[in-house]
Amino acid sequence: MTGIEIFSLSGKCAVITGAGGAIGSTIAQALSAAGAKVFLQDFNQVGLTAISNVISTSGGQSWEYICDLSDISSIEPFIATAAEKMGGIDILINCAGINRRKPIDEVTPEDFDAIVAVNMKAVFFASQAVHPHMKLRGGGAIVNISSITARYSFAMGSVYAATKAAISAMARSFSREWVSDGIRVNSIEPGYVKTEFTRPVWGDPQRAEWFKRFVPMGRLAEPEELIGAVLYLASDASSYVTGQTIVIDGGLTAGGDFDK
Ligand SMILES: NC(=O)c1ccc[n+]([C@@H]2O[C@H](COP(=O)([O-])OP(=O)(O)OC[C@H]3O[C@@H](n4cnc5c(N)ncnc54)[C@H](O)[C@@H]3O)[C@@H](O)[C@H]2O)c1
Repeated sequence: MTGIEIFSLSGKCAVITGAGGAIGSTIAQALSAAGAKVFLQDFNQVGLTAISNVISTSGGQSWEYICDLSDISSIEPFIATAAEKMGGIDILINCAGINRRKPIDEVTPEDFDAIVAVNMKAVFFASQAVHPHMKLRGGGAIVNISSITARYSFAMGSVYAATKAAISAMARSFSREWVSDGIRVNSIEPGYVKTEFTRPVWGDPQRAEWFKRFVPMGRLAEPEELIGAVLYLASDASSYVTGQTIVIDGGLTAGGDFDK
């Protein structure tokens, strides 16, 4: 294959966590449009039903699954059901995530555990749970939706940043261990994406100015601007890429400008 077909996901079976959210639903729609069957997980029924309707209207095949990823015992049955319904698993997109913006001094042990449970522990154990299913298929692709905060810090996001750095690191360590099973594991670190998740930042006129001033492209990303990287990492287009991170940040981490 040398043409655009290297991005095709025809015949592939994909699991997307947090598929009812802004980025997860956009990714689910893109994977489906590329030909994959999609298994949509979230604990938000409204969001799941909305994306599931969009996919079936466009002729795609999808399943909805409700569970709380912070309950670790829910992960094994979730992945087993996905494999059973779709007939296997080739792709896992770890997209569910939460944040609680607080100064370090106000973070409670409960805040810490809640963020770690979804953003980090669930990513580890969902990946562990798909491993035997991907091995059965002779390989697979895992994409962790990390964050620019893994490498570029903002105040009020200490625990969140730590979990995102952890899942970028996990992509590297998992890739090393599972390369012989044909499983590629990579991460994407988006800068700020315009979703409800980040409304506390862009919805505040003073904070919104920051994007104009410090992000070279002068704006937040739209969820659709992550699709290209996800399709690349999930498909044969990236068959020689594993343990890597793609940063999608409008140029933020490339450097500064003395005149701004
Ligand atoms: N929006 C951004 O600017 C941005 C930037 C970088 C990375 N990210 C990451 O992208 C991912 C999606 O973010 P988004 O902006 O679409 O946010 P979102 O809130 O719209 O989506 C997150 C989804 O995860 C689900 N979820 C949360 N906790 C869960 C749990 N315990 N069990 C099951 N599902 C759960 C939510 O219901 C939601 O549908 C997150 O991992 C986030 O950290 C977002």
